[in-house]
Amino acid sequence: MPDARCLIDRYASYLPVTDRTPRLTLGEGGTPLVRARSLERETGVPEIWLKVEGQNPTGSFKDRGMVVAVAKALEQGARMVLCASTGNTAASAAAYAARAGMSCTVILPAGQVAAGKLAQAIAHGARVVAVRGPFDAALAVVRTLAEQGEATLVNSVNPDRLEGQKTAAFELCETFGDAPDALFIPVGNAGNITAYWKGFVEAARTGLAHRRPRMYGYQAEGAAPLVRGAPVAEPETIATAIRVGNPASWRGAVAARDESGGAIDAVTDAEILDAYSFLARCEGVFAEPASAAAIAGLRKRARANGLRGASRVVCVLTGNGMKDPERARSLAGGDIATVEATPDAVRAALRS
Ligand code: F0G
Repeated sequence: MPDARCLIDRYASYLPVTDRTPRLTLGEGGTPLVRARSLERETGVPEIWLKVEGQNPTGSFKDRGMVVAVAKALEQGARMVLCASTGNTAASAAAYAARAGMSCTVILPAGQVAAGKLAQAIAHGARVVAVRGPFDAALAVVRTLAEQGEATLVNSVNPDRLEGQKTAAFELCETFGDAPDALFIPVGNAGNITAYWKGFVEAARTGLAHRRPRMYGYQAEGAAPLVRGAPVAEPETIATAIRVGNPASWRGAVAARDESGGAIDAVTDAEILDAYSFLARCEGVFAEPASAAAIAGLRKRARANGLRGASRVVCVLTGNGMKDPERARSLAGGDIATVEATPDAVRAALRS
């Protein structure tokens, strides 16, 4: 039987919630784990599982943290939430704010947000402003606005966000009866890798798991401050979700890497796109480009024999492929044939 309780109820004893915290929910969490047989054949890893976080209500992992952050804001009497975002945080904040009857403002890096994410923020009634510059510039603005009391900040610098996001680690431990050997995850602002590690540490401490996984985080090569060891002023990558030059949870990501004996590395845009289409075509799983960075990272590490005997590996697919329809269309390499509605014309089109 699937657990019908909402995420806040299911993990209440692990979350900063009380009986008075509103049980806000859109059905987040409980996402599928899908076995990746094609990837297993290619890499030689015995078991690879995809944690399909794009199946959350707004199509990304952000919902796990957002439900807790917005519920806590509501409990504390806030009327308005605010965030900077490469798109998914905005979509999630807008949806949960709408659900909670709060208003929502999102600040986006101009021209760098995938169409589906922008559509979601608008549909849910958020006020949307685009700023010139990368995500980091937008985050600096909302931090100042929040300090001046204009709204509750629901970026992952809000600790309630990370508390909610760590529940994905619990789900993995519950399903397998233990933590996996290794976890592959894309890294942008570094909140998620920080949250997963917190979750795995708590799972081991409370008996949900016996051990902790090695954490492997992947940034895009043009936006890899953690790999370079210094902020990147003008981050660039086709994976716009992780186009971040100065991650807010820098220290959390480094701690996750070092305490787990893992690594944070970079993959190129070409490797990301190749993994993106491999996943869609060979596994039947449509994730957005940023999510594919985790797959590209696993392939890279497997090629370099860097998996150190890991036999059960989980890749976190953070966002749904439908978020970024233009990227998928670009794979078609031209217009779709439009012909007369006759079998002959369709056969001819299929042959050409
Ligand atoms: N994957 C997707 C699809 C994302 O949207 C993000 C972050 C990440 C990975 C990286 O997660 O920031 O916790 O390291 N998106 C943020 C946003 C920045 O604004 O939606 P992270």
